[in-house]
Amino acid sequence: MKALKIKEVLEINTISKFCAVQGWVRTFRANRFVALNDGSTLDNLQCVIDFKSIDESLLKEINTGAALRLEGTLVESQGGGQKIELQVEKIVLLGVSDPEKYPIQPKKHSLEFLREKAHLRVRTSTFSAVMRVRSALSFAVHEFFQQEGFFHVHTPIVTGSDAEGAGEMFRVSTLDPKNPPLTKTGDIDYKSDFFGKETNLTVSGQLEAEAYAMGLGEVYTFGPTFRAENSNTTRHLAEFWMIEPEMAFYDLNDNMNLAEKFITTVLKKVVSRCKKDLTFLDERYTKEENSKPLIERSPMGLLEKINFVVGNEFKRVSYSEAYEILRNSKPNKKKKFQFPINEWGVDLQSEHERFLVEKHFNCPVILFDYPADIKAFYMRRNDDNKTVRAMDILFPGIGEIVGGSQREERLEVLEKRIKEMEIDKEELWWYLDLRRFGSVPHSGFGLGFERLVQFTTGMNNIRDVIPFPRTPQNAAF
Ligand code: 4AD
Ligand code: MG
Repeated sequence: MKALKIKEVLEINTISKFCAVQGWVRTFRANRFVALNDGSTLDNLQCVIDFKSIDESLLKEINTGAALRLEGTLVESQGGGQKIELQVEKIVLLGVSDPEKYPIQPKKHSLEFLREKAHLRVRTSTFSAVMRVRSALSFAVHEFFQQEGFFHVHTPIVTGSDAEGAGEMFRVSTLDPKNPPLTKTGDIDYKSDFFGKETNLTVSGQLEAEAYAMGLGEVYTFGPTFRAENSNTTRHLAEFWMIEPEMAFYDLNDNMNLAEKFITTVLKKVVSRCKKDLTFLDERYTKEENSKPLIERSPMGLLEKINFVVGNEFKRVSYSEAYEILRNSKPNKKKKFQFPINEWGVDLQSEHERFLVEKHFNCPVILFDYPADIKAFYMRRNDDNKTVRAMDILFPGIGEIVGGSQREERLEVLEKRIKEMEIDKEELWWYLDLRRFGSVPHSGFGLGFERLVQFTTGMNNIRDVIPFPRTPQNAAF
């Protein structure tokens, strides 16, 4: 007999049906009650072992973490808490678990402790809920772009160019690190490396996506990206997933409109599809917030926060306006910012972004028209010759969730910028070709997928929304 998923069993909710289920024991009480979970839903199925002929030695093996197949009849539940339960008639022990050694005990564990057990933490309610929501978000992302007529392109993971020009790349090489071949001048000779040149893991699929937008029109990538920045924060990973749409014939306004529609559509879909998990995560979030000092608490619950974002327009503010707001703000005047705002052109730090979003505007904010000198080489120069057509979307509790821009489509302007920023023009020959043959205005953005999962699930640390986080000094599992 094919086993049913526990989600199906609880949904069909049919008394006297005979069925089989398979899963892991969450708890075993009074030598009778097994709470079985198979990951298909947050809920456990209560299974009652109540038959005479049961083998005592088998009972001893029903421990937290063990895997079982149970066959029996669905009956109306005698206890509270659930409508139906399984009256067990047959037990198959699939995998034992030593209760003394199994780390996931039926009690509250700290998130830090569970990070050390990343291979087992998905067997807790919190992590299984987060990962189901992550999966639903991923599906909704593809669904949105496919419905909008975008094409999904797979951009390369190994690249020769530094898309962001920030030099935070992981090298890819097959050379022997103890004995690399050298050139006459004593440098490492990458000509004899695997690809015949220096290569890295990509920091962004944007440049290649631009090439494809110039033929397919509207495209998106959704892949892993890698950054060797030594940021030990709750918002940075060395390996994260990024969604990068790129659109021919879009200006910055079209770009902002798409980004806003994209985020709100995806959130709406997930709110309607993951009700049970999000309700559970909402309660968890509220408990966590209530343990913080009053002034640090979020004024809204998780679902309230998501619905607020979905139901309200994002506030659009230019860098120059934001600069004035920040310069005249109380924390700036009282020297409360770690990085004071006293000169137009300074880069905004997360303390400034959070002030704008959480204190001043109290809603998601799109900042645009940034000073050219704090942004990447490919952004389109404005006529003031000081700012570029960049946009960042800032979210409450998260900070920057999206970074994007209209791209510089004018060959001479782009070449000049590449020279000013001392970027290797040779590597970008093909990117410049896009401006030589049928160049058109175009735009795109990148959304950090884990930051979106963080916002949706209310998890404070980005390490808790990806199965196996990669951070400085940590690549376990
Ligand atoms: O602002 P970023 O660096 O933009 C780009 O990479 C552009 N090429 C995107 C584009 O226009 N196609 O990164 C985009 C987003 C950020 O807003 C943030 O959400 C996320 O990627 N991000 C990170 N997420 C987790 N860990 C990190 N280290 C991240 N760095 C950026
Ligand atoms: Mg950015």
